[in-house]
Amino acid sequence: MRDKMHHISKLEKLPPKREKVETIKILRQLSKSSKALGELKGIAQTMPNQAMLINAVVLQEAKDSSEIENIITTQDELYRALATKTSQPSHIKEVINYRKAIFSGHELLKKQGFLRLKDIEFLQKEIIENNAGIRSMAGTVLKNDKTGEIVYTPPQEKDEILDLLGNFLEHFNIVQDDFPPLINLAILHYQFESIHPFYDGNGRTGRILNILYLIINDLLDIPILYLSSYINEHKSEYYRLLNTVNKSNKWEEYILYILKAIEVTSSRTIAKINAIKKLLLETIQIAQEKEPKIYRKELIELLFEQPYSKIEFVVEKLNVERKAASRYLKKMENIGIIKSQKIGRESIYVNEKLIEILKKH
Ligand SMILES: Nc1ncnc2c1ncn2[C@@H]1O[C@H](COP(=O)(O)OP(=O)(O)OP(=O)(O)O)[C@@H](O)[C@H]1O
Ligand SMILES: [Mg+2]
Repeated sequence: MRDKMHHISKLEKLPPKREKVETIKILRQLSKSSKALGELKGIAQTMPNQAMLINAVVLQEAKDSSEIENIITTQDELYRALATKTSQPSHIKEVINYRKAIFSGHELLKKQGFLRLKDIEFLQKEIIENNAGIRSMAGTVLKNDKTGEIVYTPPQEKDEILDLLGNFLEHFNIVQDDFPPLINLAILHYQFESIHPFYDGNGRTGRILNILYLIINDLLDIPILYLSSYINEHKSEYYRLLNTVNKSNKWEEYILYILKAIEVTSSRTIAKINAIKKLLLETIQIAQEKEPKIYRKELIELLFEQPYSKIEFVVEKLNVERKAASRYLKKMENIGIIKSQKIGRESIYVNEKLIEILKKH
């Protein structure tokens, strides 16, 4: 049954009228957001080992993004889950799946440079772990969490959904040269969420598409900018603004919101990278001074790639025997770089100072 107050209007194809999405206010915010993002790209390139950065930031995003679905997971739980082989509770699995989907999306881009419809379906499937695919049954509506009121009705017919997705992908895969890509990111995000192609996981899939879009447009080399923490903190505003565009086709405030999110999260990520770099240098120095005989740059890097490490990781990375690996880790623990924890029968070595940095915004 249709809500009487709820007016169903057809979702328009891209692009929206330029004067609606390129206002003076938007252009002013755009320059701040672009500057912050440019800085982030540059600083990320100075990181000696990119895996260190990607692992840390991607896990944080997976955690934040899954939290939008009200699953609260702690950083420690997650790292422990990654380091151990035991089966995981479902809320941990969701985060791990999301992380996997980010990596898959990044791999796809590295391989082919663009996304196809089946790639997006694949990513959603990895997140949700079911085979439902694109909506083919009518009935999906978006409701206000608190009041239960229907706020938006996405397209219901599969043909229309596919048609809109085709239009979406055309705009997603074009590298922008005469239109600011960050404004386009905001527009694309709105459009994807409004098409709402899946029964579930549209938010998470859409947030992964955001980061992939930055990479397609060469605004970042690696997937390290995520808006989820910002969206979590300003969630009702986020829903309200998506709604405003649905109802009145007024884009300005919504686009400003996304641009602001890009600026704020870029600055946070820059601060985080700087803190990681500083800790890395300090750690190298301590190890060189106190354990010059066993010091190896790869060992320290491993402790940053895997803040929860274990003997096996060292064996693999340094190509040494188990006994030697175990000795290295013990020495690192003795000089205060890591701390061991028993999980079941396994010993896990935690880079606690790094975890502290990662826990912050
Ligand atoms: N009025 C609206 N118009 C368009 N999209 C909306 C509207 N309200 C909410 N959305 C989008 O729907 C998403 C939720 O959809 P869905 O439950 O399929 O995704 P999810 O990944 O499971 O959840 P979440 O995004 O909450 O983590 C929100 O993240 C938001 O982007
Ligand atoms: Mg959901």
